[in-house]
Amino acid sequence: MAFQGPKGTRDFYPEDMQVISFIFNTWKRTAWLFGFEEYEGPMFEHLDLFTKKSGEEIVKQLYNFKDKGDRDIALRPEITPTLARMIVARGSSLKKPVKWFSIPRLFRYERMQKGRLREFHQLNLDIIGEAGISADAELIAAVVFMMKSFCLASTDFKIRVNSRKLMSECLSALGFPAEKIPAAYSILDKKGKIEPEALQEMYAKDGIAGSDVQIIENLLACASLDHVRALVAAKADQVPALAEIDEFFSKISAYGLSEFVLFDIAVIRGLAYYTGIVFEVFDEQKSLRAIAGGGRYDALIEQFGGEPTPAVGFGMGDVVLYELLKEKNLIPQYRKPVDVYIINFNKDDSLPAISFASLLREKGVSCEFSLKGQNFKKQMEHAQHARMVAFVGGDEWKEGKVKIKDMGSGEEKVVEKDEAYSILAMGTHPPAP
Ligand code: HAM
Repeated sequence: MAFQGPKGTRDFYPEDMQVISFIFNTWKRTAWLFGFEEYEGPMFEHLDLFTKKSGEEIVKQLYNFKDKGDRDIALRPEITPTLARMIVARGSSLKKPVKWFSIPRLFRYERMQKGRLREFHQLNLDIIGEAGISADAELIAAVVFMMKSFCLASTDFKIRVNSRKLMSECLSALGFPAEKIPAAYSILDKKGKIEPEALQEMYAKDGIAGSDVQIIENLLACASLDHVRALVAAKADQVPALAEIDEFFSKISAYGLSEFVLFDIAVIRGLAYYTGIVFEVFDEQKSLRAIAGGGRYDALIEQFGGEPTPAVGFGMGDVVLYELLKEKNLIPQYRKPVDVYIINFNKDDSLPAISFASLLREKGVSCEFSLKGQNFKKQMEHAQHARMVAFVGGDEWKEGKVKIKDMGSGEEKVVEKDEAYSILAMGTHPPAP
């Protein structure tokens, strides 16, 4: 019987690892360019770290179990609670703002669908300790930067932004009951995602009726910030978050990123801890699931026992990003990483290849040779993926010479061994650290 991996997991063969490394390297380079430091936490945590503040949706998707000490444990579905825990543990000794990034492997027991798996990677960028909207704008700039680094343009994706603060102030200004605002968020979040009948069921379940339904419907109908402004015009003094989101958009414009970022009233986010600006990244046609999502969570660190500390961040998964890159033909072609293939003239004598390979590796050149004394033709077949080929052995080797061939141009020359090492080292590309 052949085993299969569990549903929703992936096997990464070398060609898949090359794509994953390409994605990780692009993420890491952007994080570095924006001044973020890397951190990591455990793959599993105490269950209540996730049940306390992340919200219903994520709790339903937890992989949890009892360990041998009868403790309730969960595989991490996100890293934000771990980050909050780590920030609380270091407390005031951390110089603010903290700008940290991580690429955790996460686990969610999701219903299987395109773009959603049960195990995936997610880049996280978070800024802790900065209350100003400039932190939110800087994160959006980082998202755009990395998407552009993948050669994606504003015609390929958009960042859709809203503000929970704005929504709650608007709802309150329009007379919506404060205690039902979390339920209103869930309904706004479902705009365009569920059938009208299902929406009616949500209203009924949450006890939202009459004029309160109308308030939500009016808000849902707003296609722009100006519509929102008009809706609450009579109560504008009760909606200071309007000025904040305006400031956010003027910063986005100063970054020169207006073509990438738009207001979208339906972006509320499923996680419970967001308090301010929230955003999601979608492909232009919205034909795929969200590529990234995040926002401001100014209360979470205090809720975890820390000092009141503002925070904002986002997570970008590798699954939908990969689908989009594939759709746009932006995945680099697979290339076997080895640079130089060493061919023995004489299949029964592997010693020159061994000593030549050892010296090349000392010089930082990646190389390989046939391990089982194959004939010349077979060795040439293996050499096809290499950038350069070195032919060692025979009379040339005895005279201290090596023939080298550039597999791109086909050019061949016989050179002294020392010169061969230098030439072969010239175009080598060590993997990124
Ligand atoms: P999230 O919206 O749950 O946010 O996830 C962010 C991204 O992770 C999604 O947009 C998607 O790309 C990816 N993702 C989520 N679930 C799956 C899945 N089952 N399969 C594949 N990819 C998935 C968070 O996790 C927040 N903790 C992000 C954050 C960081 N907020 C502040 N800081």
